[in-house]
Amino acid sequence: MQKNFLVPKEQLDIQDEYAKKVKTILSARYPDRKPKAYIHTYGCQGNVSDSERLKGLIVKMGYELVNTPKYADFVLYNTCAVREHAEDRVFGNVGTLKKYKTERRDMIIALCGCMMQQRHVAEKIKNSYPFVSLVFGTHVSHRLPEFVNRVLCTNKRVFDFTDSDGIIAEGLPVVRGDNENAFLPIMYGCDNFCSYCIVPYVRGRERSRNPRDIILEAINIIDGGAKLITLLGQNVNSYGKGTDTDFSDLLRLIDGLSGDFEFDFMTSHPKDCSKKLIDTLSQSSHYCRRLHLPVQSGSDRILKLMNRGYTRDEYLTLIDYAKNKIPDVSLTTDIIVGFPSETYEDFRKTLSLIEEVKYDSMFTFIYSPRKGTKAFYMDDHVSKEEKSKWFQELLAVQEKYKIRR
Ligand code: 5AD
Ligand code: SF4
Repeated sequence: MQKNFLVPKEQLDIQDEYAKKVKTILSARYPDRKPKAYIHTYGCQGNVSDSERLKGLIVKMGYELVNTPKYADFVLYNTCAVREHAEDRVFGNVGTLKKYKTERRDMIIALCGCMMQQRHVAEKIKNSYPFVSLVFGTHVSHRLPEFVNRVLCTNKRVFDFTDSDGIIAEGLPVVRGDNENAFLPIMYGCDNFCSYCIVPYVRGRERSRNPRDIILEAINIIDGGAKLITLLGQNVNSYGKGTDTDFSDLLRLIDGLSGDFEFDFMTSHPKDCSKKLIDTLSQSSHYCRRLHLPVQSGSDRILKLMNRGYTRDEYLTLIDYAKNKIPDVSLTTDIIVGFPSETYEDFRKTLSLIEEVKYDSMFTFIYSPRKGTKAFYMDDHVSKEEKSKWFQELLAVQEKYKIRR
């Protein structure tokens, strides 16, 4: 039995009450116009999907969504912590908001998402960005109306990084960015602890949505005109762990829905990608026939240090199986270059694996040390120059295989 992660309905009802209160305060504050809100999302599709629910709450509070922070009364940045570069961009962009706040004192600047779930980042915002009024972590997003109400009523800064084993808030309103190409979250969090990755620390433990809630949302999305539904989770292959519906079962339910749509899913973990799943995909009429299977490295030594839970051979066997069962499958992957202690020999094993699989496209990253992860504390003798030389070599190979269809 999976633990019950659902936020109790009474707690969501309380948030409805706060949303109403905010709406009343805002209509008194801006009697001649609708208050405006701007939300910017950094990072992965998971964050984009979270922002669609945050937008739902923002609209419920009476705001009108706009496309620039310049004239907005409420600005929210939903941040990403996966690589240092993403974090630097957030700090830079938050800095540029200061001038708007100086011009309009009543503007509320808020930050949320993975980056804010890290204590050292939240402290930095608290101490060095006094014009930011609201900061909240990933476990309390559904409480946005309560936080906005508190900022409006007290005029004090609000910080909430409450940690939990993980929660699921069902029934939140959603404002989708793209009705034809819709995101559908099926699970949250990650239990894998790949040694380079910050996600398990900022997103909490793995938990799956109830199949019924997912199917109801899928029907709603299809009725709304979706042509592609992308099922989202950090590790969709372990959907339903501890329950009697696994990921293959869920896909069969979705494939059974009627309508002119395809489904895709992100992200798969090779260690949990079963033959049963590939068999199910091969028999699914709505499957888009794309398989994103991040390998990260082609060297067994590095894979072990990364705590990925599979070997190069196991990965290649899985790829062969998928190619056999789904001959027109389009394969894509993620690669990290410059992991601590990686040698050129290790890197060449990654190149040879890429040559062997012949991906249709790849997402390639230079390793970025993340405070708190295991890899952060590993010896890293690889110089920046070396890493970027290898990265250029990888890009050249990537160019060769760029989408062939
Ligand atoms: N450094 C570089 N790339 C990373 N990724 C995750 N963490 C890091 C990191 N610390 C990459 C992985 C993952 C993708 C979403 O981001 O390749 O699959
Ligand atoms: Fe990070 Fe690994 Fe979890 Fe993906 S599976 S989110 S890379 S820890």
